[in-house]
This record gives sequence, C-alpha cells and structure tokens, in this order.
Amino acid sequence: MTLDNPIGIMDSGMGGISVLREITKLMPNENYIFYGDSKNAPYGSRSTEEIYHLTSDVVDKMLDMGVKAVVIACNTASSAAGKRLREKYPQLPIIAIEPALKPAVISCPGGRVLVLATEATLREQKFATLMEAWKDRAEIIKMPLPGLPEFVERGELDSPELRKFLMGYFSQLEGKKIDGVVLGCTHYPFVRKVISELFNNEVRIFDGAAGTARQLRRRLHSINMISNSSTPGNITWLNSSDDPEMIELSKKLYKIKLD
Ligand code: DGL
Repeated sequence: MTLDNPIGIMDSGMGGISVLREITKLMPNENYIFYGDSKNAPYGSRSTEEIYHLTSDVVDKMLDMGVKAVVIACNTASSAAGKRLREKYPQLPIIAIEPALKPAVISCPGGRVLVLATEATLREQKFATLMEAWKDRAEIIKMPLPGLPEFVERGELDSPELRKFLMGYFSQLEGKKIDGVVLGCTHYPFVRKVISELFNNEVRIFDGAAGTARQLRRRLHSINMISNSSTPGNITWLNSSDDPEMIELSKKLYKIKLD
C-alpha cells in the first residue's frame, strides 16, 4: 500500500458524486475510484440486509482495486452497513455519512427542521440515535422521498414532473413554516435549487458532504495516509449499470454548477 493508492468512494448510484465534489475540492492531489451501483439503485426502499450485502460487495470490489480508504457516500448504506463493515474490515479506514441534523438544529434553535432522506435512513437506529440527541433543540420532521433518487439517476435535475413530485410531499406540511431543510440523501443536493425554490428560497439548506470530506481528511491525517503528491490526482469512474451513458452522466454531475 502506498500513499498514492486510491480512495474508494461508493454510492447506490450517482448521489455520492455530491460528496466526491467536496472531497476533491479539499484533497485534489489524491487518486479516487468512484463506484456508483446504479444497477441496484435505489437502495432506500430495500431491507437492511439487502443494503448491507450490496454495500459490502462494492467495498470488496474496491478493496480488490487496492483502495487505501473507503467513503460510503450514501446515507442509506452508511446507516445499514457502516457498523458491520467496520467490524468486517477493522484495518480499513471507512468513512460514513449521516444527515446534517446537528448543524441544522444548531442553526435553527427552537425552529422547525425538515429531514429529507430515504425510508431506510429514517428507519435505522443510526438516525434514531441522532434524532434523540437533538430533538429538544428544534422540532424535527422526518420525510422520506421514495422516487427522488430516480430523477437524479436519469439526470433530471429540474422539470415540471420533478416539481410536481416534490410538491406532492411538501404539501403534506400543510403550510407549516420550515426553518431548515436537511438533505439526508446524497442524491438530493443535485435538486437543491428546486427544493429551495419550492420553499420560496426562505429556508436554510444543509447537507453532509463537506463535513464528510473534512472527516476523511482528519482520518487520513491521523494515520499518515495523506498523499504527498503535489500534482492533481485522477478519478476512475465505475458503474454497475450496463448503460455506458452512466459514466458520461457521472462526469456531467461532477462538473455541473450547483447553488
Ligand atoms: N444516495 C443514497 C443516500 O444517500 C440513497 C439513494 C437510494 O435510495 O439509492 O441515502
């Protein structure tokens, strides 16, 4: 293992690219493998056991490619598989992501925070523990959005159908004032602008990507695994889907401007 071995970043599909963007901003000289499991996406409506096995298979593939660390850039896979994978691979640095509930609640004290995530993320113990820790500081509303990752998987980041889909869910809030929105699924930052507009640009929006990138750097630093290269590294794009356009779409999502 050398310091220039790649860092493996995985997601159920394209969503983790929102995390990869933050990681490469922070550590441009590392090499990366991004593995999107689009063939098996979405993970969010699957059982815990299924999500664990799918995630574990991807981690095994990345280990065969010599990764020095793994980032589970998927809230769903992190909740369902993070702990078990750390037990399975005690020597491997595994960085997981969680919904950015803490910064949202701290920024909206006494307010109302809407957590958008998959069904699996919201039902797992990891989220229950997080919510228990912060529930007295703000009113927390959980809202699963099954069907939303599929829009991102086909590169549909704004359309009348997408807006109608989201409004169908947000109308369930019956006009309650929302102060903060947590994007607790790594696919959702790609539709952040639409979500913000549907709340009249009057909410603060939080996601866990930048925090996860900082956590990865801290972890690598603590074990002296940061690359000492002074030139930009490369990204190897992999996807389980047979559709060759998924790689093109991945590269497009990596570069697209998000606000
Ligand atoms: N990107 C994943 C997450 O962060 C979930 C999308 C899916 O359901 O596959 O939770």
